[in-house]
Amino acid sequence: MSALSHDELRTLFLFEKLSEEQLDWIAEHGTVRSYAAGATVAQEGEPSTCFFVLLSGTLRMCRTVRGDLIEINRTDYRGSYCGATQLAIQRGGENYSASVFAVTDASFLELPAEEFSAKFREWFPMATHLLQGAFLGRQNTDFVIGQRERLLALGSLSAGLTHELNNPAAAAVRATASLRERVAGMRSKLAKLARGDIDPDLLEKLLDIQETLVKRVGSAPKLSAVQASDLEDQLTDWFDDHEIEQGWDLAAVFVQAGIGTDELDEVLSAVGDELLDGALRWLGYAVETESLMGEIEDATTRISTLVGAAKQYSQMDRAPYQWIDVHDGLDSTLVMLSGKLHKAHIEVVKDYDRSVPNIPAYAGELNQVWTNLIDNAVGAMKGGGTLTIRTALEKDQLLVEVCDTGPGVPKELKQRIFEPFFTTKGVGEGTGLGLDISFRIVANRHHGDLRVKSVPGDTRFQVRLPLTEQASD
Ligand SMILES: Nc1ncnc2c1ncn2[C@@H]1O[C@H](COP(=O)(O)OP(=O)(O)O)[C@@H](O)[C@H]1O
Ligand SMILES: [Mg+2]
Repeated sequence: MSALSHDELRTLFLFEKLSEEQLDWIAEHGTVRSYAAGATVAQEGEPSTCFFVLLSGTLRMCRTVRGDLIEINRTDYRGSYCGATQLAIQRGGENYSASVFAVTDASFLELPAEEFSAKFREWFPMATHLLQGAFLGRQNTDFVIGQRERLLALGSLSAGLTHELNNPAAAAVRATASLRERVAGMRSKLAKLARGDIDPDLLEKLLDIQETLVKRVGSAPKLSAVQASDLEDQLTDWFDDHEIEQGWDLAAVFVQAGIGTDELDEVLSAVGDELLDGALRWLGYAVETESLMGEIEDATTRISTLVGAAKQYSQMDRAPYQWIDVHDGLDSTLVMLSGKLHKAHIEVVKDYDRSVPNIPAYAGELNQVWTNLIDNAVGAMKGGGTLTIRTALEKDQLLVEVCDTGPGVPKELKQRIFEPFFTTKGVGEGTGLGLDISFRIVANRHHGDLRVKSVPGDTRFQVRLPLTEQASD
């Protein structure tokens, strides 16, 4: 189509103050193009190659927001512009941030984005600097705020983790102190036994019995309270019959190991009446030390599980982008938050489909998403409830659902909760950034989707992630 004259160009507000020379350039490089009603002028996400100026007709501008196409503008104002509008900061390689459609038959003046952009910078250097400054300032603000939110999240996590670590650590310290006492007791009992001039054969038998009993400690079937107290009574009776003092102390120890009167008879026949008391106490110590060592092992295992989870959570030694089993991150996040979940009386249900494939992802960032969603779910379930984490394969996407039984998100807030700084929580309680950041991680970083479905008693935050690598962003 033929180019526009200078006079025609001057009727468009963007160009009214341009010099003759500049208008020459526009006229030379611009093309006038017509679109039929309903036609697509620019497609969101495609490389932005054109700067459009509306000459006639009506346009509408739409953007995909959380899966829905939302109209953000509709105008028939002559001279309205769209497309590659970030002239000052554009260096090519940008994509259209919105789609533009012709509502009626319409015509546009189209300028090639890259060249127009270069001319803009040449013609208006000061405006360029100011626009770039505004843009960078905004980017920097976003970055700083993002960091701050991450720090806050980290702070509450590390407080939780410290708390979690404290219990097993204290248990291990306590058990170690008891263990030291028992071992000392054992040494002195052994000395007494030895002074009793036992036959070496007997001693060997005793050691055999000790080995058998100790092995039972770990593998003894868990007795019900009734069974345990029955057994304890039997043992106490047996000790009374054999004139063992304070037999109930020993009974309690042996019950733990599931030792019955049969085993005691064996001990008796092995060592005889005279050494029985000393032998039993020594065996009692052996059983106790074994269970204390079991406790220490449990406590330290718990500590190393927590440290392992913290490591997996923070992705300290891992590549940021990698193929991951999404369940690893979910599990480590749940471990990190277990103290909080426990305190809030929340039951956790893992409804995992373990057969879902690994996906390419920024594992550490996804952990932040899980943390934010779980944190919100916990916050919503005042006084307790059920947190369900579900995974499933849905067509060509992986679905992760964080569900809670709280009061839900009111319909009128469903769009707003994703806005930065939107919070219904009190000052110091919520930053209103959790969902905004989560959305950005899911949508921008992973080309996935984050949505909410909510009715009172059943709120689901659904994260959908692609199974294959997407064109890099
Ligand atoms: N599971 C949920 N149930 C009910 N409301 C929720 C839930 N998750 C988020 N919200 C709402 O969304 C708002 C924004 O959440 P978010 O961006 O994480 O910020 P913050 O948690 O700091 O308030 C919350 O204040 C709350 O009103
Ligand atoms: Mg939150």
